This record gives sequence, C-alpha cells and structure tokens, in this order.
Amino acid sequence: VFSGRVDFLLSAPALKFLPDPVVPEIALSGRSNVGKSSLLNAITGRKALARTSVTPGRTQELNFFDVGGVAGEIPDFRLVDMPGYGFAKAPPKVVEQWKKLVRDFLRGRVVLKRTLVLIDSRHGVKPPDLEMMEMLDGAAVGYRLVLTKADKVKASELDEVHAKVMAEARKHSAAYPEVMITSSETGMGIAEIRAAVLGDAEL
Ligand code: GTP
Ligand code: MG
Repeated sequence: VFSGRVDFLLSAPALKFLPDPVVPEIALSGRSNVGKSSLLNAITGRKALARTSVTPGRTQELNFFDVGGVAGEIPDFRLVDMPGYGFAKAPPKVVEQWKKLVRDFLRGRVVLKRTLVLIDSRHGVKPPDLEMMEMLDGAAVGYRLVLTKADKVKASELDEVHAKVMAEARKHSAAYPEVMITSSETGMGIAEIRAAVLGDAEL
C-alpha cells in the first residue's frame, strides 16, 4: 500500500471542508511539536509530504492524505494530520476553535477507524494529552498511544516512560493497552506502526 500513491488531498479548517467519508481514515494527534508530521512522513516513506517545523503550532487544520491505489482514483485509506494541541502561546480563541473542530470531527466521523495519540518520550503524558484521551474515550474512538522521538532519551528512561504511559493507557476505555515506541529519525518502530495502521484501516 505504501509503495503506491501517497498524495496530499486537502486541508480542512472546518467540518464543511471535509472530504466525502468514502474510505477508512486514521488520524494522528498530539501536542504541538510532538512529531506528528514527521511520523506521517516516516510511515508513508515520503520525506516532505507533511510539513514539519521547529515552530510549534504550525499545523492548524485537519490535513488529509490519500494513501494507496492510483492517483485520481479513490485511495485505499486516508491519513489525517490533526492540529497540535497544548501550545502554551496559542490564543484562547484558537484553542476553543481547535477543540470544537476536533470534538465534532471525532464524534461524527464514521470512517475514522483509529487515532494515534503521539506522546513525546522525553515528557510522557501531560495534562493536554489527558484531555485529548478523554475526548477520544467520550467519542468512543479507539486510539493507540505512540511514543515519539525515542532517539532523544536513554534506554533506561525509555523503559520508565513506556511503563508509565502503559499504566495510563489501561485507565482509559478507548485506549489500546499496548504503547508503541517510535523514532522518525532512526526508523525505530516504523515498520510496526505501518503494520498497525494497515490493520486498523482493515487493509
Ligand atoms: P505541529 O504540526 O506544530 O503540531 O508539530 P508536529 O507534531 O507535526 O511536529 P513535527 O513533525 O513538525 O516535528 C517537530 C520537530 O521535532 C521537528 O524539528 C522535527 O525534526 C523533530 N522531530 C520529529 N520527530 C523526531 C524524532 O523522532 N527524533 C528527533 N530527534 N526529532 C524529531
Ligand atoms: Mg505538524
């Protein structure tokens, strides 16, 4: 699937701009700068598909990517890069808009098969992550917690944060009990997450 077409489809700043819900969708969510766009690029094996940035809060809309199949035709599934949350400097109005967009999307999107909630290996689960997890529990959208930037921490720290995040996952009704460990930099865990995404999309 990933060796076929991967194309940016559209960027939706509001629900009315969403594409027709015709194929399975897998969303990527997480705090600003956690590495969502980088992981999307790593999963699809495209270097610069989703824009990555050192400035947090870069991605403000729901960005849809067509994966698999032939260009111009219906793809096998879609990846959705969600706007990052928990950005301290974001104006309250922007935060409110984001929450509404995301909540409405999660509640109403019948083709949304799974969400990946990315957690920075250096930081673990933070209050804004808990808020996101509770939103997903409430919308009954199954999600996988995925540790990112594993290359940035020592193996012992990684073990510790992994155990803590798994313990947190077990407290949430819609969370997978297993927590994946990845690095978009080294490629660690990328094959596993690809397989998981394909499984979640039922491909
Ligand atoms: P927003 O769209 O602003 O919410 O950010 P994002 O979650 O999409 O993060 P992005 O992928 O743009 O990455 C943020 C920064 O972290 C960039 O400088 C990336 O190069 C870096 N980064 C992402 N993943 C990794 C990783 O696995 N390892 C390391 N060392 N750096 C990473
Ligand atoms: Mg991004």
